[in-house]
Amino acid sequence: MTDASSTPAIPVTVHRSDYRAPDWSIPDIALDFALGIDATKVGAVLSVVRDIDAPVPLLLRGDGLTPAAVRVDGEVWNDWRMEGSDLIVDLGERVAATVEIDTVIDPASNTQLSGLYASGGLLCTQCEAEGFRRITFHPDRPDVLSRYKVRMQGDKAAFPILLSNGNCIDQGEAGSDHWALWEDPWPKPSYLFALVAGDLVVNRDSFTTMSGREVELGIWVRDGDVDRTGHAMQALKDSMAWDERVYGREYDLDLFNIVAVSDFNMGAMENKGLNIFNTRYILADPDTATDVDYDGVEGVVAHEYFHNWSGNRVTCRDWFQLSLKEGFTVFRDQSFSADMGSPAVKRIEDVRLLRAAQFPEDAGPLAHPIRPDSFQEISNFYTATIYNKGAEIIRMMATMVGPERFRKGTDLYFDRHDGEAATCEDFVKAIEDGAGIDLGQFRRWYEQAGTPRLKLSLAEEGGHWSLDIVQTVPPTPGQPEKQPMMMPLRLAAFATDGSGDALADTLVMVTGATQRIALGTFAARPALSVNRGFSAPIIVDFERGPGELAWLAAHDDDPFARYEALQQLMLDTLVAAVSGKAGDNRAVIDAVGQTLEGAASDPAFVAEAVLLPSEAFIGDQMVTVDPDAIRRERLALQATIGAALETKWRAVLAGKAPPATDLSRKAKGGRRLRGVALAYLAATGADDASALAFRIFSDADGMTERQAALATLAHGDSDERIAALDIFYQRYRDNPLVLDKWFQVQAWSLRADTLDAVKELAQHPDFTLANPNRVRSLYGALTGNQAAFHQADGEGYRLIADLVIALDPKNPQTAAKMIPPLGRWKRFDDARAAMMRAELERILARPGLSRDVTEQASKSLL
Ligand code: ARG
Ligand code: ZN
Repeated sequence: MTDASSTPAIPVTVHRSDYRAPDWSIPDIALDFALGIDATKVGAVLSVVRDIDAPVPLLLRGDGLTPAAVRVDGEVWNDWRMEGSDLIVDLGERVAATVEIDTVIDPASNTQLSGLYASGGLLCTQCEAEGFRRITFHPDRPDVLSRYKVRMQGDKAAFPILLSNGNCIDQGEAGSDHWALWEDPWPKPSYLFALVAGDLVVNRDSFTTMSGREVELGIWVRDGDVDRTGHAMQALKDSMAWDERVYGREYDLDLFNIVAVSDFNMGAMENKGLNIFNTRYILADPDTATDVDYDGVEGVVAHEYFHNWSGNRVTCRDWFQLSLKEGFTVFRDQSFSADMGSPAVKRIEDVRLLRAAQFPEDAGPLAHPIRPDSFQEISNFYTATIYNKGAEIIRMMATMVGPERFRKGTDLYFDRHDGEAATCEDFVKAIEDGAGIDLGQFRRWYEQAGTPRLKLSLAEEGGHWSLDIVQTVPPTPGQPEKQPMMMPLRLAAFATDGSGDALADTLVMVTGATQRIALGTFAARPALSVNRGFSAPIIVDFERGPGELAWLAAHDDDPFARYEALQQLMLDTLVAAVSGKAGDNRAVIDAVGQTLEGAASDPAFVAEAVLLPSEAFIGDQMVTVDPDAIRRERLALQATIGAALETKWRAVLAGKAPPATDLSRKAKGGRRLRGVALAYLAATGADDASALAFRIFSDADGMTERQAALATLAHGDSDERIAALDIFYQRYRDNPLVLDKWFQVQAWSLRADTLDAVKELAQHPDFTLANPNRVRSLYGALTGNQAAFHQADGEGYRLIADLVIALDPKNPQTAAKMIPPLGRWKRFDDARAAMMRAELERILARPGLSRDVTEQASKSLL
């Protein structure tokens, strides 16, 4: 088997409307693995039962497999044929049979990291969405649920640890080999199968569930990494307790294992009882992980744990329903992280991510509803829309009904569908019935792509003020016409002069294309606080002067709305500057200065609020993105605010940094604010800025401060920059996760020569296409650096296209993830757009392209 031949680029489109229940079910599966790094023998015994009356052959999917032997009910069987890469077994009139298939696979040559693969001597699996068919022939669809028994045998020295789903029920020795037998009592779809074999050490702990059952917990890592697993373990126990408390969900096995691997396409995977993680979401200690990394560990550990109910006990009928488990589970992990830290800051971070990753997707050629109607390659649909917009849709339901009724709805969902492969519609219906709400119109969120826009204006009649709303949902590929959405809009109105009635926090339901909402009596135009807490995932167009925004930034009682007001004020100022309208920066400076007054009590919130909007987000406000002007004006405003408030930034930096081991909200916030202050100060070009950054870098007792100082230095042109990069490299060259940061800060640099630096770094001995984290740390960071990626000569586009072409034969999933930035060509000037298209076409002209890249590149041209 070669990897290239196992992913044919025949673009077959699968449609949601074509769903048919499976012909055969498979109540039980026994797998027998004879483990070897470059040859693993897989014996599969499927007990199959026909679910329809008429005889029909058994269709088993395969990807790069050849059957070495097929037996039916113990007899050698010849009534089978290959149809493409699939195996069709003719079982005649049988209504039930035992089908045995032997295959041999080569984990070492599996560079796609899908199926069974080798990662530094370790054998591990990734089966979601369609990786199981790379291990053995199987229907490999999520609505076929089976009980698994897994036997694995391998060399004791090479594979001292043997893990699979469920419980280990037997083990033994056989010469230099040993073996283990695992059994998972819970029926599960094939995408939740997992196996790990290798030399691992464990951090053990336990958790007592609400009914008093003792669960053994294990986090398995390479020797030397076990000291960095404490935070993940705490996050796991916190998640288990939280899911009991908030959703009434108890863990259902006696064992819960997590394994961390370095080569992983995504963040992590929720395999039943055996989660497999990217090391970056497990390993953390103060010396090597930033506060952001710590929060990432906590959030992803929670996410995968929560899948045990939202994903595993209730799974998806088909992959069009992916958001059923992912949107709901992201909502659950967001709520958990909010409870563990600061709800306001968590909401700000989540909304920032939504705007950075999902809004552009919704506005571009790859826009799709959270429940897509068709796809060519399902791996391309693990998107910000399915995950993050999906979470927003669940959040809106929770907002509309409130926590108690929402809990009634989710209880009903879990009761009704436990053990089933369910649909998004099943979830909506359960909330509708359990919480008692009509979600008829709300269902459009599952059907229509695109970010709704509300155009707002205030109207007055005899002192009575009202809000006029005009809703539009923009056309998206395949959906030219849209219906208005139903959404909860939280708002409040304030009399800025203290006269008249203030309208306290109110939830209004927006349903129409136009709608008028009475606000009350005010002597003068009230300040409107709207979409508070980001109650709906929409874009609000609302003309407001700097005075009103500054007032809200200072006085709104909703912290998220305060943040929004200041961001809007910054955005308006920046967009005006980029459009050549010389603006007055006074209002922004004053508002930032005023916000900084709160630094002592809530540094985390203040750090978020005073941060300038990203270059990409500024671009999103413009008809045509001008990356160079945006870079210039954003740096200019940063310098202006830096200089005007210099004493305040210096005061923040003069204080002592909280000890890196202190992970309290306040300490994390303090470090975050110091990082922001340093960036503002450096932007002014103050003589001592580089020396100060270097001192912070050198004195840092942890990675948060160290990385922030390094990133600031990396933007500049000082000797300290070169020294710090070198020191950092020498110190961490043996730690892959930290070395990723070294690549990343350089690719994020605002320097004019960043593209050249990226080209050089791609030749660095530590750079490799074999590790997805490393690829993302260099090229993912580059596409996040707007002015560098969109350099006027098109060199950034060329680099990314070259990468996609080089990576696709090895790892199509990760290659395809790099394409969407090239698909944003409509948002740029003609010259850039032409070059971006040309690169997409150059990619598509390559022979033997994967289905993943073919789909993304061809759709990106439309
Ligand atoms: N279910 C995993 C998670 O979100 C993601 C797995 C994605 N796998 C893939 N091949 N795209 O928790
Ligand atoms: Zn997930």
